[in-house]
Amino acid sequence: MANPAQTRAWRALETHRDAMAHRHMRDFFDADSGRFDEFSLAVDDLLLDYSKNRVRAETMDLLVDLARERGVEAAREAMFAGDRINASEDRAALHTALRRPVHDALIADGLDVMQEIAAEREHMRRFSDAVRNGEWTGVAGTPITDVVNIGIGGSDLGPAMACEALSHYAARTPRVHFVSNLDGGHFARVTQHLDAGTTLFVIASKTFTTLETMTNARTARRWFMQRIGDEAAIARHFVAVSTNEAAVTAFGIDTANMFRFRDWVGGRYSLWSVVGLPVAIAVGMDRFESLLAGAYRMDRHFIEAPLSRNMPVVMALLGVWYRNFLGFHSHAVIPYDQCLSRLPAYLQQLDMESNGKGVDIEGSPIADYRTGPVVFGEPGCNSQHSFFQLLHQGTDPVPVDFLLAARPSYPVDDHHRLLAASCLAQSRALMRGRTDEEARAELAATGLDDVAIEDALPQRVFEGNRPSNTLLYPVLDPFTLGMLIALYEHKVFVQSVIWGINPFDQFGVELGKQLTGPIAKALSGDPDDAGPFDASTRGLVDVLARARRGGGE
Ligand code: F6P
Repeated sequence: MANPAQTRAWRALETHRDAMAHRHMRDFFDADSGRFDEFSLAVDDLLLDYSKNRVRAETMDLLVDLARERGVEAAREAMFAGDRINASEDRAALHTALRRPVHDALIADGLDVMQEIAAEREHMRRFSDAVRNGEWTGVAGTPITDVVNIGIGGSDLGPAMACEALSHYAARTPRVHFVSNLDGGHFARVTQHLDAGTTLFVIASKTFTTLETMTNARTARRWFMQRIGDEAAIARHFVAVSTNEAAVTAFGIDTANMFRFRDWVGGRYSLWSVVGLPVAIAVGMDRFESLLAGAYRMDRHFIEAPLSRNMPVVMALLGVWYRNFLGFHSHAVIPYDQCLSRLPAYLQQLDMESNGKGVDIEGSPIADYRTGPVVFGEPGCNSQHSFFQLLHQGTDPVPVDFLLAARPSYPVDDHHRLLAASCLAQSRALMRGRTDEEARAELAATGLDDVAIEDALPQRVFEGNRPSNTLLYPVLDPFTLGMLIALYEHKVFVQSVIWGINPFDQFGVELGKQLTGPIAKALSGDPDDAGPFDASTRGLVDVLARARRGGGE
């Protein structure tokens, strides 16, 4: 059955929601000093504190019933076994194979996929070692100083996020840069100080057809040829990461310098594949393999732990509770860790491209329940000084995930103690709020009279009862990062199973891509190319085309 709203567990949760309607987390904490122990769990040193959520033991039991009734356990097995669970594209979703130990055979479509994965990992190791130690040189025989990854979506966000997260392990050279946007300013700014003779371009695209990436790749080739002028040198300065050998060859990249993966790796799940090449170059292949090992550790936990003690399952169920039963539409991810500054962007693609679906797995429109939330975030403390006002006092509660390292990646004076205190203070403030009496007492302590206190009071009362998780880890090393990313992957997967949707396709992004072609033609200013546009698009195209001509183009 694709519709979760018709399950017994769903109906029980609706009844329970009504019973929970006026309960405040502050009272839960006041009544139970063991709440932290009851509502926290760990995988090795990674701790999830979910005690600051609007749940009681009964809530969690009912949510676990829902997971069971929706077949989460069977779906999990099917994914790891390589079943064709991506039904609309008739393929497996086997990104988990990419972090499996290579001697552990996995047969999919009659082949041991681990052999090919092992060969590609070996290729990555040879190549990344050679670039790092200067054996792989540019055309003039000098070592590579700069690597530019050209890709977008999953071919950009994963490696860019991981390189930033592990920057404290990165060698001084080669420096790794990322170009993703079609805006020429992105390419221009990244390359403006680079020396073509010591720059290596990694063209990363699963399909090798993506407009943004192929446009940037052609620009990179032109940029390179204008400076080096030797077609034969392309082989030393351009490598490809793709599933599409024909397109890589047509582009002019030597297939000996192609890193391969398979179509059963979704773009947003591809960091673990050769798409991670920039990470291996930046921090070394051993550390990249440690990232894989961390993800594998989380895979084992996801497979083995009972649903009620299973970290991705618990996080997924809390998300379902808020989305479907309390009606919250967003979810914030706030790393108190500058190294994770790109994590929210990465998770936006992972979560929203996976679970932003309005049709269920059987092809029926979803009418009577909601699917994926809006995901957003920024590192703390910066976010405290931008959108936290809404988190504390806005009319729509937003559940938050806080992420915090016990030890900083960059120890500087007393910064980390204050950073950690800020993180804990925010989750405590969201949970407790400030009551009328507390606010009144604080105002009275400043010497205000009763009339002034009454005036000042409303803005200073915080409702509280705003949920959050805190993920606490000893230090942001590659293993921990791997665990964290796999944790979110499985969380998203579990939610997709509960919602009865396919998290592995993304047809919603196709229409905009298709409509770009005719509009690009019309923008070239030829009236014959004018498509049958709506009045708004027509009007905007005309203004743009005029402005572009006026701009001398
Ligand atoms: O935005 C759609 C999408 O297909 C993503 O799923 C993918 O990660 C991205 O484009 C890039 O695709 P490719 O790696 O094929 O260039």
